[in-house]
Amino acid sequence: MLETQSLRKPHDVADKVFSAGSERARHELASGLRQHAARIPPKYFYNELGSKLFEAICLVDEYYVTRAETNIYLNHATEIADIAGQGGTLIDLGAGNCAKAALLFKALQPNQYVPVDISTAFLNSTVERLQAVYPQIAMLPVGLDFTESLNLPAKIRQDQRLLFYPGSSIGNFSPLQAMQFLTRIHRECGKNGALLIGVDLVKPADILEAAYNDSLGITAAFNLNLLVHVNNLLDSNFLVSDWRHIAFFNVDQNCIEMHLEARRPVTVQWPGGERFFAQGERIHTENSYKYTKDGFSELLKSCNFGDPICWTDPAQQFLVCYARAN
Ligand SMILES: C[S@@+](CC[C@H](N)C(=O)[O-])C[C@H]1O[C@@H](n2cnc3c(N)ncnc32)[C@H](O)[C@@H]1O
Repeated sequence: MLETQSLRKPHDVADKVFSAGSERARHELASGLRQHAARIPPKYFYNELGSKLFEAICLVDEYYVTRAETNIYLNHATEIADIAGQGGTLIDLGAGNCAKAALLFKALQPNQYVPVDISTAFLNSTVERLQAVYPQIAMLPVGLDFTESLNLPAKIRQDQRLLFYPGSSIGNFSPLQAMQFLTRIHRECGKNGALLIGVDLVKPADILEAAYNDSLGITAAFNLNLLVHVNNLLDSNFLVSDWRHIAFFNVDQNCIEMHLEARRPVTVQWPGGERFFAQGERIHTENSYKYTKDGFSELLKSCNFGDPICWTDPAQQFLVCYARAN
C-alpha cells in the first residue's frame, strides 16, 4: 500500500519571487524592458489567468502539441513504467494542470508526486482536486522559479526519481541554455534517477505558425495577458490595446518566436523608469525551439544522460524521450 499524505501548501519561494512588489521580479522586468531589443522572459505569462489561457490553448484545433504528446503517454504509459519502475518519485517540472502526469499515474504508481510550478495559486487548486482523486499518492506541490533554483525540499525522496518535463517547455531555452538546464536536471535526478521529457519536432512552417496564431485568438490573449501580469508586478502602465500579438517561425534557428508589437507610439512608465516604443517596435516574449530526434538525443547525451529511449505520435509531430542519469 502506498503512503498517504495530506496536501501541503506549496513551498513559498515563488510567492516571494513573483508576488506584486517583488524586488527581483521588478529588477528583471525593468532591465528586460530597457534593453535595446526589449524582452520579457516567458515565465511571466503565468499568472492565474495565464495558466488558464494555456489550458485553453491546449484545446484549440491548431495547437497539435498537447494532443500529440498526450497520445504518446496514452499509448506508451505501460512501457514507460516498465522501464522507469513503479513506486518512485515523479517530479513534474512546470506541471501546469498536472494532466500529463496524471496520465502516467496508473502505470507508474508513484509513491510521491512533486508538481513544481511558478504559478502557485493555479498549482494549489489543481493539486487539491488531484489529491482527492488519487489519495494513495503523496502529493507535494512546490512553488518555485526553476530558472532561479531547482533545490527541492528535503522531504522529497532522493532515490528512484523520475524528472518529468513535458509540454516542450525545454524549447523555451536556447540550445545552450537547454544544455545548462538539462545539466541541472541531471544533478537533481540522484541515484537511479531518470528524465522523461517532451519535445516538439521540427515541421513545416505553416503548421507551426498556425499553432501559435490560432483563429480564436487564444494564443494572442495568452501573449497579451503577460502585460497585465507585468503591470501587477512592476506597477507599470501597459495598455493591452496598444499591443498586438506576433508569432512566426524563424527557419534559421528552428524556432517559433513570439513578440508583442506596439500598434502606435507608446511610452510605458513604472516607478523609477520608462521606455518609449515606436510604432511597430516589439517586445520579445517567447522562443520555442524545435528539435529533430537525433539532435535532441545528442543534446541529452552531452548532458551526461544515457542513450534515450524515444517515442513519437503516429503523425510524428512530437517526441518523448526517457533517459537515465548516468
Ligand atoms: C507550457 S506550460 C506546460 C504545462 C504542462 N506541463 C503541460 O505540458 O501541459 C509551462 C508550465 O511551466 C510553468 N513555468 C514556466 N516557467 C517556469 C519557471 N521558471 N519555473 C517554474 N515553473 C514555470 C508554467 O507556469 C506552466 O504551468
